[in-house]
Amino acid sequence: MSLTSMGKNGLQVESVPLSEVAQRFGTPCYVYSRAALTAAYGAYRDALQAHGLAGRSLICYAVKANSNLAILNLFARLGAGFDIVSGGELARVLAAGGTADKVVFSGVGKSRTEMRAALEAGIHCFNVESASELEQLSEVAGSVGRRAPVSLRVNPDVDAKTHPYISTGLKTAKFGVAFGEAFDLYRRAASLAHISVKGIDCHIGSQLLDPAPAAEAADKVLALVDRLAAAGIALEHIDLGGGMGIQYRADEPAPAAAAYLSPMLARLAGRREKLVFEPGRSLVGNAGLLLTRVDVLKPGEEKHFAVVDAAMNDLMRPALYDAWHDIVKVGAGDTATSAATGASMSYEIVGPVCESGDFLGHDRELALNEGDLLAILSAGAYGMAMASNYNSRPRAAEVMVDGDAMHLIRRRENIAELFAPETVLP
Ligand code: LLP
Repeated sequence: MSLTSMGKNGLQVESVPLSEVAQRFGTPCYVYSRAALTAAYGAYRDALQAHGLAGRSLICYAVKANSNLAILNLFARLGAGFDIVSGGELARVLAAGGTADKVVFSGVGKSRTEMRAALEAGIHCFNVESASELEQLSEVAGSVGRRAPVSLRVNPDVDAKTHPYISTGLKTAKFGVAFGEAFDLYRRAASLAHISVKGIDCHIGSQLLDPAPAAEAADKVLALVDRLAAAGIALEHIDLGGGMGIQYRADEPAPAAAAYLSPMLARLAGRREKLVFEPGRSLVGNAGLLLTRVDVLKPGEEKHFAVVDAAMNDLMRPALYDAWHDIVKVGAGDTATSAATGASMSYEIVGPVCESGDFLGHDRELALNEGDLLAILSAGAYGMAMASNYNSRPRAAEVMVDGDAMHLIRRRENIAELFAPETVLP
């Protein structure tokens, strides 16, 4: 399903023209579709259903991909659990109506305060990533009189074949317990009074388009689960992480959830353990776009620049990973005064931030006028979640479209609140 379609008032999301969103809430502005979010979740559930696994699986949305309360609340209503990586994310999940008993807590460095908060909330499981974390968690659990439910996140040493910054499953990565050390650490965990061994966890990277590495990791994990069972350590659940890739370019389709998940699910179908998945990007990425307006056209000798009002602080992925996002004209609601349409040419789409790395797209063939609206597609994941206030730029508004309605789910920040926590010297 494509997020946008062309209507008589230009590009629209569901039944709402993007020009109306811009007029009402200004730009830059993130726009999400409730129907697209619901469909992405449904695709996961259907894939699990097709393998007879729906009844014993938990889809834990990875909050880091987009932590807006409305999005968390929508997934909670659909029955999702949540994968968190901080106390802040736990607080968001609870504020959005999520329940702690469906929360798994990932991450290579959890503070004792975060451990305590998660124990007190009663989360489903801690995904423990090191021997030292296990000991710390045991101590904290003892101090609050609880047993911490634990999975070990194992590092299967599998090449996920994705961008190095988002590849996590090689032994050179900081993530997870080395595969060869996991068995002994499980024995240690099983011997600790304040630890309750529940499961196993594995996440090898993000934006994976080929299901083979994830299936290879699953094989390794399952072999370890069987070895543990033979040694008397029976696990209740297997968490295979997130990582399914999405479509970023019109000419580069991503696999459907059913196709991507199928090799993994086939391996799990005959087993008794419960399943957990931690999808982030694949639930929200294609369900959101970043709406921006062309402020300045700056033709040059070598390159032509279109300076838009969104920048690397709003969408960091191009600057950080050299990531590609398709950029299309909204085609209505443009404020260009001149009737003349700019000739089509190759533009560098850049923001106003004072860095040469501040670009949203290179070499985009577009016919532009100042005032035109552009949609930067596939921006629902790791867009707003990674936004900053660099250059003292207030973060963008976020809007959820639902049929013919638009809901402001995060108002635009104002400048005064950017420096409100700061004080000058006495
Ligand atoms: N579980 C764990 C333990 C993770 O570290 C991640 C993502 C996920 C689940 C969700 O992965 P997903 O389904 O979204 O691929 N900022 C980068 C992506 C960083 C991913 C970090 N971990 C980007 O914009 O591409």
